[in-house]
Amino acid sequence: IAHGAPRRAPAWWRGKREALLAQARSGTPRYVYDLATVRERARDLLDSPADRCFYAIKANAHPAILRTLAGEGFGLECVSLAEVERVFAALPDFDPQRVLFTPSFAPRREYEAAFARGVVVTVDNVEALQRWPEAFRGRAIWLRVDLGHGEGHHEKVKTGGSAAKFGLPMTRFDAFVEQARRLGVRIVGLHAHLGSGIEDPRHWRGVYAQLAGLADGIGTVESIDIGGGLPIPYAPEAPQFDLALWRQGLAEIKAAYPRYGLVIEPGRYLVAESGVLLLTATQTVEKDGVRRVGCDGGMNALMRPAMYEAYHGIFNLSRLDDADAAAFDVVGPICESSDVLGRDRPLPRATAEGDTILVADAGAYGMAMANTYNLRALPAEDVIE
Ligand code: LLP
Repeated sequence: IAHGAPRRAPAWWRGKREALLAQARSGTPRYVYDLATVRERARDLLDSPADRCFYAIKANAHPAILRTLAGEGFGLECVSLAEVERVFAALPDFDPQRVLFTPSFAPRREYEAAFARGVVVTVDNVEALQRWPEAFRGRAIWLRVDLGHGEGHHEKVKTGGSAAKFGLPMTRFDAFVEQARRLGVRIVGLHAHLGSGIEDPRHWRGVYAQLAGLADGIGTVESIDIGGGLPIPYAPEAPQFDLALWRQGLAEIKAAYPRYGLVIEPGRYLVAESGVLLLTATQTVEKDGVRRVGCDGGMNALMRPAMYEAYHGIFNLSRLDDADAAAFDVVGPICESSDVLGRDRPLPRATAEGDTILVADAGAYGMAMANTYNLRALPAEDVIE
């Protein structure tokens, strides 16, 4: 456990076993989200030196989660026009200035539609201003920069450095500022998001310091957005993120550069632990000494293990107290060898067809990345109020 940070209480789902088994009987694969856990995580972050918190809805855009976080005071960060529309469908009266649109290689019409909606728009390349001057002329925008390196739990989630498609490189910074001036575009926010699942709590203060240095040179910047990327401990031995150290770093850096509003935009931290994926065991098979339990959802329902070798705790909810364990690979029904949710997991030896299998910490980038490969249906979703 890093920096003596306290471990959390047992996961919420352990106390809701009967309710979850009942939900599983109405059909699996099924995601279930606990809104009380979302609120708890929200309050962790609201209690910080950040002046504004946006929730990155790509992590989980379920309307009940959007309403819960908006109700706690979060703004909502969107990467596509469809996400912006989801926000206003869930929250028709939401203040558009509490919506931050941070697209990547979006077509011109998405920028135009976002401006027309009155939401805050982030731009991350000078070519957009050069090609579409009329879309931007006279507007206030936020600028996303690439500080030259990425961070995160896997290569595929690092969003900085020359291999990444995101952000204005420092070599084009002056050109951007100049082009903005020419068009009467005011750069009122400066943004960097270096990646996802960043374990060092001091990372964000470094980002703020770099952005504040750049902002001083622009003159019109009001907000500094240091991105998301806060981790959660997926594996049993993973350290708990040290929120106290994170808060302290932000407080120090804000004291050093007090003229800017500090903005954060986490996704995973707020929702990962609130969600479980319920599956039903279809077959247990032994082959060449490897025991496998097959489930009715795999990489189609939860892509993270196949895509990032991500770890998720896996439990047999039907036999939670059965201590006679054996090692199983937990696999799905998809025609790919990467369709493995977990390898070598201790599960009850008696695990059998019909058991409810629970995949933990699946509330972020679970349903959001689910797909219909092999014509498997998308998972269902439920919330627990
Ligand atoms: N802001 C921007 C501009 C982002 O691109 C992202 C995530 C976030 C905020 C929120 O990051 P978070 O706090 O959730 O780490 N599918 C991957 C994660 C991809 C993250 C994409 N961008 C995964 O399952 O690990």
